[in-house]
Amino acid sequence: MKRLGLLMIVHALLLAGARSSCLYAESGAEGWLRYSALQEQAAKKYERLPASTVALNDSLVLKTAQQELIRGVRGMLGRSLRTGAGPFAEPAILLGRFEQLHTLAPALTIPSNIREDGYWLGHEQVHGFECLLIASSTDRGVLYGVFALLSKIARGEDILALDELQQPSAPLRWVNQWDNLDGRIERGYAGASIFFGGGNVRGDLTRAGAYARLLASVGINGCAINNVNADPRILADSFLPQLVRVADAFRPWGVQLSVSVDLSAPKTIGGLDTFDPLDSQVAEWWRRKVADIYKQVPDFGGFVVKADSEGRAGPSSYGRSPADAANVIARALQPHGGVLFYRAFVYDHHLDWRNLKNDRARAAYDIFHPLDGKFENNVVIQIKHGPIDFQVREPVSPLLGGLQHTNEAIELEITQEYTGQQRHLCFLVPMWKEVLDFDMHAGGQSTPVKDLVAGRAFHRPTGGFVGVANVGMDVNWLAHPLAMANLYGLGRLAWNPDLSANTIVDEWTRLTFGNDPLVVRTITRMQLSSWHVYESYTGPLGVGTLTNIVGNHYDPGPESSERNGWGQWHRADHEGIGMDRTVATGTGFIGQYAPEVQKLYEPLPACPDELLLFFHHVPYTHVLHSGKTVIQHVYDAHYEGAEAAGAYVSQWKLLEGHVDDERYTDVLTRLQYQAGQAIVWRDTINEWFYRGSGISDVKGRVVKR
Ligand code: GCU
Repeated sequence: MKRLGLLMIVHALLLAGARSSCLYAESGAEGWLRYSALQEQAAKKYERLPASTVALNDSLVLKTAQQELIRGVRGMLGRSLRTGAGPFAEPAILLGRFEQLHTLAPALTIPSNIREDGYWLGHEQVHGFECLLIASSTDRGVLYGVFALLSKIARGEDILALDELQQPSAPLRWVNQWDNLDGRIERGYAGASIFFGGGNVRGDLTRAGAYARLLASVGINGCAINNVNADPRILADSFLPQLVRVADAFRPWGVQLSVSVDLSAPKTIGGLDTFDPLDSQVAEWWRRKVADIYKQVPDFGGFVVKADSEGRAGPSSYGRSPADAANVIARALQPHGGVLFYRAFVYDHHLDWRNLKNDRARAAYDIFHPLDGKFENNVVIQIKHGPIDFQVREPVSPLLGGLQHTNEAIELEITQEYTGQQRHLCFLVPMWKEVLDFDMHAGGQSTPVKDLVAGRAFHRPTGGFVGVANVGMDVNWLAHPLAMANLYGLGRLAWNPDLSANTIVDEWTRLTFGNDPLVVRTITRMQLSSWHVYESYTGPLGVGTLTNIVGNHYDPGPESSERNGWGQWHRADHEGIGMDRTVATGTGFIGQYAPEVQKLYEPLPACPDELLLFFHHVPYTHVLHSGKTVIQHVYDAHYEGAEAAGAYVSQWKLLEGHVDDERYTDVLTRLQYQAGQAIVWRDTINEWFYRGSGISDVKGRVVKR
């Protein structure tokens, strides 16, 4: 069986090689902003769209908004909007800020008190002409409104009686790129960096501008462009002019440039003999450095810091806390309006695995919860959604409920590091939705994660979302054309976490592949099932990870997690498997949650099957809520998962002739590969469990080799 999987993979790879050797047209480069011509019938709906557009100010971003509107309408409807004609001469699509609209038409009822970047789409009479209004308190908000209008047209929605107000859930909606200055991307699966190469910022930043356009179209307003394992040179004086060029590429789209910094920079590149955050020379170094940056990049967003983590320098070198480290930089950023994201991904990767009380999952809460309230107001603690590290299934990080006097942002991983590396289909929005909707019961009240990170739950001044994107030079940005739904979904959820996964994937599919019902139905179904399918053949019952964690984070490697200091243990032995994280007998991790949440996880009978092995060590014969034993569930899940992955191939084949040949073949090749790799996973993991447990599969499929 495993041979069959390998043969399928080889076949798929040969096809992929053939594809990449021919000229690969630019279709994927537009992502979901393709603006393909609508069919005549569909275009009719928009006959009454005004024939001109008027921008009420001449800012760079508003100009971008107007050009985008013209581009979109031309692409989809084949009409060229006029510009320059006054709003008094003819019906127009008016673009502007609320106050400008008010000056123009004082009688209009214009929405007030809406959050920054929120926009209004309205259909009103202005000076006797029927106008379509796209207005916001910021120019960036107007740009977002334009993208929203174009999205409606692409998806065939009505736009003539519009009166719609949209506002972002959270002020900070960022992506991080883990790009190195040499052009490689850490955990990037789509080619080289669009920002760097050979130790410098690339000469041609066309892709960086195109990326900012994609980001803006879903409301992303900041991007940190370099690896969190930061090269200190990013802050060298000589590097600053290069950063200025990236900021210039982002600016038309309202995306703020930001960089990740190394805490030791005052010493490594600054000429000081210390980077102690409490040293006044160090504070002065950061103050000057930040002032220099803002002189040349006035709309600079701020910094991201990874410290005392996986070998990075940190405040512990001087016996200082993360709050000391964050605050010294945050104070330097404050006068300029900059934000400091301090990552909570701080843990000891030399843990003693022989001590059953040790638990990496505890680290973020143990370190940051006692510091709650000690951070400056422009510090945001950036918290990975789970307590370990972007595994296919983790519970929500308790730290998300553990900060009431500190800003926080949730970090979600778009790049599929542990979820198939864009070679497998794995739409992550359903997973993120579960996290965002999860009620942490912080402070004895109902506090879903989405309210905590938006800063609403505890009236914080700021907060938000960070997606680790890692797009690359690949024409499709994330390599697998269907993986782009994750980038789109991150933006949409950051804007509105109440959107359903179904709505998001439906939007994305229509924008990316058109409105053919068969295409929409097939792709949305495949996407919506894909996380569970991937989970079932790679990481059942919340086991954490069975992937090779010391190597590529991709292939099956269940032994690799154990007996090392990294703490991704599943503690499998010949009798059972799972980490005991209970308060009663285990590591006590469950005690970091509010009592209401503890009740879900601490008692074995209450614990949901999908997280069982994350919280409890149980015998293979333990009976799940589903009625199956753990071992039989493992066997069955792997067979079902591999079968479902195989079925994606036949489902996709239904779309031949319904999507362009180029993407049809590209996706087909990837799905065939995935089907083969799922069989490899199935057989490797099932045989490993069989060897460990000695318990046969009741259906007789699993054999010992
Ligand atoms: C993961 C990933 C690393 C990354 C780290 C982080 O462990 O494998 O490459 O540096 O996360 O988030 O800092």
